[in-house]
Amino acid sequence: MKKRILSGMRPTGPLHLGHLFGALDNWVRLQDQYECFFMIADWHALMSEYEDPSKLPEYAIECAADWIASGIDPEKSTIFIQSHVPQHLELYMVFSNFVPLGWLERCPTYKEQLRELSSRKLHTYGFLGYPVLQAADILLYKAGAVPVGKDQLPHLELTNDILAKFNKLYGGIFKEIKPLLTGTSKLLGIDGRKMSKSYGNFIALGDSPDVIGEKCGQMFTDPKRIKLSDEGHPDECNLYSYFNLFKDKLLPEVREYCVNAKVGCAQCKKDLADVISEYLSGIRTKREKLLKDKDFIRDILKEGAKKANKAASETMTEVRKAVGLV
Ligand code: TRP
Ligand code: SF4
Repeated sequence: MKKRILSGMRPTGPLHLGHLFGALDNWVRLQDQYECFFMIADWHALMSEYEDPSKLPEYAIECAADWIASGIDPEKSTIFIQSHVPQHLELYMVFSNFVPLGWLERCPTYKEQLRELSSRKLHTYGFLGYPVLQAADILLYKAGAVPVGKDQLPHLELTNDILAKFNKLYGGIFKEIKPLLTGTSKLLGIDGRKMSKSYGNFIALGDSPDVIGEKCGQMFTDPKRIKLSDEGHPDECNLYSYFNLFKDKLLPEVREYCVNAKVGCAQCKKDLADVISEYLSGIRTKREKLLKDKDFIRDILKEGAKKANKAASETMTEVRKAVGLV
């Protein structure tokens, strides 16, 4: 039997290169080795978008399309929407009873998100419980490993704390979980800040070549290279870190023309736009085709929810018994 893994994304905006190279390409590789559950975390999205959730349905369907277009195969992996499987909230409630407030208030991602999403009113009961729901997501499927980026490590630690406390109180149902970290270092946004939906500083998987050209044109480059005749420093250039994603494309040429001041940054931006557009063209065609038939995507998600439901109810039967629910 294959080991089971679970991961998820919040449908709060278009998927971008950060998702592709930070998570998705890793998920695609894991599909053959593990029994995979990939979840569109709409409850988690609602925790921050509750004031205006009008775009969540669109983002959720597009998220599924982006996954499939990037190589997630619904025949191999179970893809589903979190809120379609009600047991997530049941297990979340069970955990909520015994998770001390201090664990949640101290969680570094909590403080960080409050700061980062300052335009949202996030001093809520629900948002404080974000990692408790995430622990429920993972443990509902008894996933042994969770492919995530470094930023999610505090949530996985909390998940282990929560399961240990559950096991101590009610008997050992859950086993320790492990992160499956992705190798790629974090890609910054086109403006050199953290890539973020709220800054709008990303290249989306669905961006057209024109939009990609425009965004590459705005990118921050080596601040020490002002004129064409200045020698450049690729390792200090945010734009160059994007070339690094496409190792077999132009990378040595760019380094060479940059350090020897042979080609200017304007041309380099055009070269990058071409490389990205070409790389994304297959994904873009596929996602556009998928998005022409949204019912097809909805059917896949329905099938996924059925499979997820089966696994989830097995765990909940055990949990209900352990905590004294009849
Ligand atoms: N918190 C994750 C993120 O922002 C999304 C998520 C929700 C998740 N539930 C999960 C990731 C369970 C892994 C496992 O990226
Ligand atoms: Fe960066 Fe390219 Fe300019 Fe070199 S030539 S500094 S790699 S944008």
